[in-house]
Amino acid sequence: MSQLSKEVKEQIEKRRTFAIISHPDAGKTTLTEKFLLYGGAINLAGSVKGKATARHAVSDWMEIEKERGISVTSSVLQFNYGGYCINILDTPGHQDFSEDTYRTLMAADSAVMVIDASKGVEAQTRKLFKVCTMRHIPIFTFINKMDREALDTFELLDDIENELGIATCPVNWPIGSGKEFRGVYDRESGKVELFSETHKGTTQGEVRKIALDDSEMDTWIAQQQKEKLLEEIELLDGAGAEFSQELVSKGELSPVFFGSALTNFGVETFLRHFLQMTTSPLPRQSDKGAVDPMEEADFSAFVFKIQANMNKAHRDRIAFMRICSGEFEAGMDVYHMQGGKKVRLSQPQQLMAKERKIVEKAYGGDIIGVFDPGIFSIGDTLTASGERFCYEGIPTFAPEHFARVRQIDTMKRKQFVKGINQIAQEGAIQIFQEYNTGMEEIIVGVVGVLQFDVLKYRLENEYNVEIRMDSLPYEYIRWIGNEEINLDRLTGTSDMKKVKDLKGRPLLLFVNEWSIRMTQERNDGLILMEFAR
Ligand code: G4P
Repeated sequence: MSQLSKEVKEQIEKRRTFAIISHPDAGKTTLTEKFLLYGGAINLAGSVKGKATARHAVSDWMEIEKERGISVTSSVLQFNYGGYCINILDTPGHQDFSEDTYRTLMAADSAVMVIDASKGVEAQTRKLFKVCTMRHIPIFTFINKMDREALDTFELLDDIENELGIATCPVNWPIGSGKEFRGVYDRESGKVELFSETHKGTTQGEVRKIALDDSEMDTWIAQQQKEKLLEEIELLDGAGAEFSQELVSKGELSPVFFGSALTNFGVETFLRHFLQMTTSPLPRQSDKGAVDPMEEADFSAFVFKIQANMNKAHRDRIAFMRICSGEFEAGMDVYHMQGGKKVRLSQPQQLMAKERKIVEKAYGGDIIGVFDPGIFSIGDTLTASGERFCYEGIPTFAPEHFARVRQIDTMKRKQFVKGINQIAQEGAIQIFQEYNTGMEEIIVGVVGVLQFDVLKYRLENEYNVEIRMDSLPYEYIRWIGNEEINLDRLTGTSDMKKVKDLKGRPLLLFVNEWSIRMTQERNDGLILMEFAR
């Protein structure tokens, strides 16, 4: 085994790769923009993605894809700040929400959860959070929009603890909200960072910090607010969870910060603390044990996302991979484990805000996209080491929308089956068959409904097959964990459906949670799983 050089190790050590998750409109884009501002990656008040793009309707989505030739659905932004090299993995929301959103989380070492202070934990956050906890990665909470009327602070924390089942530890504490918002109290330094709305487009966030017991404080906050703050701090010090880096690292305690991304308040404080508390690239599990980027010298990576080019003129694909160890150099030859042969990684690129840029070098912790002539699948391992090993696969996540799909012209059966299988192989959709019949009936499952449109569009444009889709009422799918289960004998509710996936694994489709519970009750010892490896 070759020796990990000091230079490469230093490069990897300074990397911080995290995903940013939230329910749509909580302020993820705004917060990301502000991060980039600190990194000097964009000009003042520049934007990560045009609002028009962020808010696009389904109809113009295809146009955007075609125009750019690459997905707008998930991007990676890299910037430098305070001696760190930061990779932010954006998790697509709204209409773009898909299995890719979940997979992106598999490539991150930690997650930042943005919560709207007036709303608390919302549906999409809950779903994404589940995937983060499954991986035991550190989770940091930024409670945003404090410049608007917010829910009671204790209530917000309770909401996170109850809804998500994670302990919280506020690093700072807000003083009022909305028109009454005066700033945040930093629990460690005992100082108040005064809120000012004037920093919107600048790289300077909060600047004025005053000790709480400073007499000048009275000119900034009303006596009543001060008393409330003192009471709350006392309560918090007495009853709240203490900060523990160990628990944060295990993903069992989430440090909480308050701020307002729009006015750039609390953002830099958050960024500074976050970078200290989060982790450099973590070891990854493989069939030869954990691969630690601080020890393994050779390049290795796994594919977590495949993006088909929507532009018909370029029928190539881009495979996004997370580098797990070593150094990447453009054009290098690596061994593709699942394909069983050497491949050259060409046209490597990183996404920088709106542009793609060609990368010459990248390191453990980084995400790159490489040209894929159609050989990669989600979860594949690439390695430059003489030693052969595979990283633990990426789980298949439960789709939530289902439709029965048929080709309109029966003569096009072959193209239809080929197309739908290829699209499923890329991981854009999942396909299931009736449990007892063959391929005649194909059931498609997706995490986000936009994927149905993508499927239809691609089958028509790339495979010249028109399809009919009839939506099915199922919303829940469960893999069966028991090895030897006889599906014929399994008794569920009348609206439950038995299907199998591409690998022949048995699954159950349910209309509601009640039906899942009934089935569980009627079949003693049945193990139902929300994702499958
Ligand atoms: P998302 O990526 O999580 O979907 O949210 P995004 O950042 O796009 O923010 C959603 C809306 O919330 C935007 O308003 C944004 O300006 C606003 N917002 C974000 N952070 C804050 C904050 O700290 N305080 C306040 N008051 N608003 C915030 P919009 O009107 O939908 O868009 P725009 O027209 O302002 O761009």
